Amino acid sequence: MKFTLLFILTVWVKSLRSGCSPSCIHPPGKWCSSLDSAVQCGVVKQCLESDFLRSRQTADPVHVELYYESLCPGCRLFLTHMLLPTWVLLGDIMSVTLVPYGNAQEKPDGQKYTYVCQHGEPECLGNMIETCLLNMTDMAFHIIYCMESSSDVLGAAESCVKVYAPELTTDKLMSCVKGDTGNQLMHQNALKTKALTPPHQYVPWVTINGVHTEDLQDKAMSSLFMLVCDMFKGPKPPACGGSKQQHYRSYCHNE
Ligand SMILES: *[C@@H]1O[C@H](CO)[C@@H](O)[C@H](O)[C@H]1NC(C)=O
Repeated sequence: MKFTLLFILTVWVKSLRSGCSPSCIHPPGKWCSSLDSAVQCGVVKQCLESDFLRSRQTADPVHVELYYESLCPGCRLFLTHMLLPTWVLLGDIMSVTLVPYGNAQEKPDGQKYTYVCQHGEPECLGNMIETCLLNMTDMAFHIIYCMESSSDVLGAAESCVKVYAPELTTDKLMSCVKGDTGNQLMHQNALKTKALTPPHQYVPWVTINGVHTEDLQDKAMSSLFMLVCDMFKGPKPPACGGSKQQHYRSYCHNE
């Protein structure tokens, strides 16, 4: 209560100081990022009403990990139809880790490892390309989505990279894919996959905040979106519906 009063008072004083037509120089995404910008942009009330800003500071995002392999049909479907769309809408309250390896097997071979993949050599290559992408570019999710939603996962790689990460040359990517870096990164994926408890029995295999249960897996497969909304401990963002739904109830009527 004290805090709220102080806050409103500060806002009021600040709005007096900044005159009657404060100028808003911030993009909409930043309006609620500070008191000053909220005042300048005339949206103090809206920012106070939406607890969202505070929720992001106080509640941990829901952490979703996907263990998968690049050519497994069920993995591709989950990744493209469930995981990425959910991440686009709920990116503020969830974090995602992709671990391409799945049912592959590794054997030590000197300093390196050799890999055998469930869907053959092409799958090992796909896993390796995606592993390197995850290590080399912030746009990895977009590129992996682009590849996995294409009819030819490997064939699409080059053009997907061109679209989303033009600065990443094929040479650079392939030196990771064919070299020690990729080999070591894949070994990390193998270790991570082998460390799962319970051990994975199939892919796509999902963990939520590090936990896998049949129930969580079922919920993730039928609606990851609802699961993430349910599991987020902070106030729900507008995309989750509930009390903030009116944000999206704005119509242009034909008269
Ligand atoms: C990429 O891999 C190297 C190890 O090979 C690691 O040191 C680095 O932190 C990784 N970077 C990212 C963004 O994952």
